[in-house]
Amino acid sequence: MKALHLTTPPSPPSLIEGTAPVPRPGTGELLIRVCAAGVISTELSWYPTTHGKDGESRIGAIPAHEFSGTIEDVGEDIGRLEIGREVYGMNDWYSDGDLAEYCLAPFFAVYQKPSRLTHYEAASVPISALTAWQGLFDRARLRSGERVLVHGAAGGVGVFAVQLARLHGARVIATASARNRDFVLSLGAEQVIDYAASRFEDCVNGLDVVFDTVGADTLERSWGVLGPGGRLVTVVSTVEDSADARVKNAFFIVEPNQKQFAEVAALLDDGRLRTVVDTVVPLSQAPEIYTGKLHRKSRGKLVVAIENQNLPEGKI
Ligand SMILES: NC(=O)c1ccc[n+]([C@@H]2O[C@H](COP(=O)([O-])OP(=O)(O)OC[C@H]3O[C@@H](n4cnc5c(N)ncnc54)[C@H](OP(=O)(O)O)[C@@H]3O)[C@@H](O)[C@H]2O)c1
Repeated sequence: MKALHLTTPPSPPSLIEGTAPVPRPGTGELLIRVCAAGVISTELSWYPTTHGKDGESRIGAIPAHEFSGTIEDVGEDIGRLEIGREVYGMNDWYSDGDLAEYCLAPFFAVYQKPSRLTHYEAASVPISALTAWQGLFDRARLRSGERVLVHGAAGGVGVFAVQLARLHGARVIATASARNRDFVLSLGAEQVIDYAASRFEDCVNGLDVVFDTVGADTLERSWGVLGPGGRLVTVVSTVEDSADARVKNAFFIVEPNQKQFAEVAALLDDGRLRTVVDTVVPLSQAPEIYTGKLHRKSRGKLVVAIENQNLPEGKI
């Protein structure tokens, strides 16, 4: 099968097109024929991209770990009735990912694709939506009526964090660039702070929750805007090795969760939640996303079309 692999060190991390054997599903696994993959451009520098679970170095990893596609084959313990079902989901960070014609995924990490969404749209959802869900509800325990500040509200994760917090009855304040102000208001934020023009700490304080997708100085300055009992969560991987215990505790990595995939799919299908795809590119162009040569045109996720190289006109 066609696949993109991480170059071998000492080259700077980038991707090359090659081939790989179609993997065989083991116990509890599904073989997915990938239609589309969602991309997080920082992934090449993440630990699991270059290391195995045992700490050994990993060579030639296939990146991208969220997909939409069709079940092609199943492990022995899974009913063959599943074959042909359209699904969306995630695969293990330490396993080969979805910039390939096929990938493996654990059964518990996929769910039926939201029926109203195209494969391109569905591939933009799994990691971003579950990161927002787990950050707001599992980690920060956001309650209805509370005030939450979402940093990076026009980004892949932020788009879901704003909408899910609002649907939960929270009051949402967001940071974004001026060009994304109206867009973020349309997602349900009641106030949008232009991060280039103002310091958010001059505009808000006494917050119940801060959801950070930006890190660095933005994260540092966020502690001061929390009120008594306030909680902060961050998803930015550069803080993972922080010496500050407070920062370490605030960080988490999203995990697949079938029940949450089901709840997100229901919200997408009944129109209460929406996903935003910026651009769909063919597999041959995917390396440019990771090197920074290909940028978002406006907002939302960059998605790679795997199966159908004839990209659709208009609707994605
Ligand atoms: N831990 C996990 O499990 C996990 C899961 C998913 C993602 N992540 C990480 O989360 C981060 C965000 O991911 P993403 O996919 O949402 O990224 P993204 O789609 O690239 O969005 C980043 C957003 O940040 C905004 N931004 C940039 N500088 C800002 C600032 N100073 N203040 C406020 N907003 C700012 C940009 O806004 P404008 O476009 O308006 O300029 C952009 O919309 C990445 O570091 C990613 O690696 C972690």
